[in-house]
Amino acid sequence: LNNGLMKTPPMGWLAWERYRCDIDCDNDPKNCISEKLFMDMADRLSEDGWRELGYTYINIDDCWSSKDRDKDGRLQADPKRFPSGIKKLADYMHVRGLKLGIYGDMGTYTCGGYPGTPLDKITLDAQTFAEWEVDMFKYDGCYSNDTEQAQGYPLMSKALNATGRPIGYSCSWPAYQGGLPPKVDYDLLGDICNLWRNYDDIQDSWDSVLAIVDWFFKNQDILIPAAGPGKWNDPDMLIIGNFGLSMDQSRSQMALWAIMAAPLFMSNDLRTLNSGARAILQNKMIISINQDPLGIQGKRILQDKSHIEVFWRPLSNNASALVFFSRRTDMPYRFKTSLATLNYTVGSYKVTDVYTYETTTVKDSTEFVVSVNPTGVVMWYVSAPAKVNSRLFFRGSHIR
Ligand code: GLA
Repeated sequence: LNNGLMKTPPMGWLAWERYRCDIDCDNDPKNCISEKLFMDMADRLSEDGWRELGYTYINIDDCWSSKDRDKDGRLQADPKRFPSGIKKLADYMHVRGLKLGIYGDMGTYTCGGYPGTPLDKITLDAQTFAEWEVDMFKYDGCYSNDTEQAQGYPLMSKALNATGRPIGYSCSWPAYQGGLPPKVDYDLLGDICNLWRNYDDIQDSWDSVLAIVDWFFKNQDILIPAAGPGKWNDPDMLIIGNFGLSMDQSRSQMALWAIMAAPLFMSNDLRTLNSGARAILQNKMIISINQDPLGIQGKRILQDKSHIEVFWRPLSNNASALVFFSRRTDMPYRFKTSLATLNYTVGSYKVTDVYTYETTTVKDSTEFVVSVNPTGVVMWYVSAPAKVNSRLFFRGSHIR
């Protein structure tokens, strides 16, 4: 969507995967969906180095609103859990250099059973969000049918634009249509949305991450051309720092989301994050790969019979990223290949391991070995090739 926003994939924090629809603030005050939770996370984003790395959105998901609209038919936040209201919460973000996202649904109800934003409420709700100075809106699709969605998603795009406030627009539409053409029209999505959920919700498990990875790379030829500055495929939240992933699996999620040019929305507890998870999520080199200004989504280039897979993403300045990913379950596997085998042109490449910061120089023809842990990755930033200077060599030694 050409609204000037999200020229690189948006980054931030989103409540859903970790906090779901926990509305029990009496018994679980630290984790329930309330203004306190979003303020806590905003404090962490701004005080613990996240904002400077690009993590600037704090996004509310389902279960934030009152079960009823107000007397004028407007959405209103749950008065007990958001006593200051959404406008105040947005102010809280803005003074900290952060942005606030909110959630709604195309149907009569949200997936969690809260008031939806069906066709006849789109203009009003878009205006309400703009008045609250919200910066991003996720439009879910529960309880709506194909016909309503075909009208509603474009209409909301227009309504948000008409408010005059730049509001990033996340569409769940394709996820409700199976994610693939001919039902899904990716050209249209790119025109009306900044990002879109293509596939199933992520859960706190490696199985879930793998299912998402499988689907996105199986369908890469359809998905890659859909993405670019201002328009992104969204494989869903980062679950790093929660309970389901090992350290290697966490590194894998981060690496593959960077290859996919995916939005980076963490859904975790930034108040209690362990240092290992933090190091992965704050890895500058991976973030800069994810945020590469060309915005070209990467792809799987090899599924080796050893159950090592190789992923590649072209980056600006003639650089690229490579991920070696192991689907094995035995032991670290010593995978042997060369850049020439991986379709790199002739030259000498400076290669940096983004997790260890080790640097080596690799010629296209040099055979090298990477040791990849089970369910883990090795990820490289590969600089532009330097010429292997054969001309000089031949002059000196042969031609005369
Ligand atoms: C759907 C969405 C999730 C989340 C929930 C909220 O399942 O895909 O991301 O927003 O609804 O109920």
